[in-house]
Amino acid sequence: MPVKKIAILFSGSGTNLENLLKKLHNKEFDGFKIEVAVTICNNPNAKGIMRSRKYGIEPIIINHKDFANREDFDKELVATIKEREVQLTVLAGFMRFLTPVFISNIKAINLHPALLPLFKGGHAIEESFKSGMKVGGITVHHVSEELDGGTIIAQRCFQKSSSMSLDDYEKKIHNLEYELLPIVVVDLLSEINS
Ligand code: GAR
Repeated sequence: MPVKKIAILFSGSGTNLENLLKKLHNKEFDGFKIEVAVTICNNPNAKGIMRSRKYGIEPIIINHKDFANREDFDKELVATIKEREVQLTVLAGFMRFLTPVFISNIKAINLHPALLPLFKGGHAIEESFKSGMKVGGITVHHVSEELDGGTIIAQRCFQKSSSMSLDDYEKKIHNLEYELLPIVVVDLLSEINS
């Protein structure tokens, strides 16, 4: 059975990383198997490191602070990913701006906790919660040079209720993320030949 490989990049808690490992790693889908060939983290103190180890994958730590500029950091990311010959790279809570060095070399998708093109950036959950919108939601999109600006692949949304706390809202967002991201990864891999 053909094996399709992915890389997962993360920066913090890593709950989406763990969800992907649980649902996809070494699992069979329609005519292929998925292998998480590498997990990469830019933060040596990230909780996600332990989550990756639980699945027998020692994350590669590439600390952005060890590099003089973003381009050099991205070069190291690119080299590490290319070495594994993965078909797809998934940014699951990877909190770094990426330069053309990365974008032009790596086919990647990103998970964002709001309905793009609204609420771009690092405070999407709080901003969308506080907005007057009656729905909240999430987006998976291709990574492009514009922050949170690549083509949208899939979105999910839910009705907000007036009794919802920020905590409830955040939980709802994460639960949708755990549902949607693995589905998108499987769909994209099934479209890739090789
Ligand atoms: C997720 O909610 C993801 O959508 C968000 O970071 C969180 C990571 O949680 N990503 C962004 O905000 C990217 N702009 P996790 O580390 O527990 O998976």
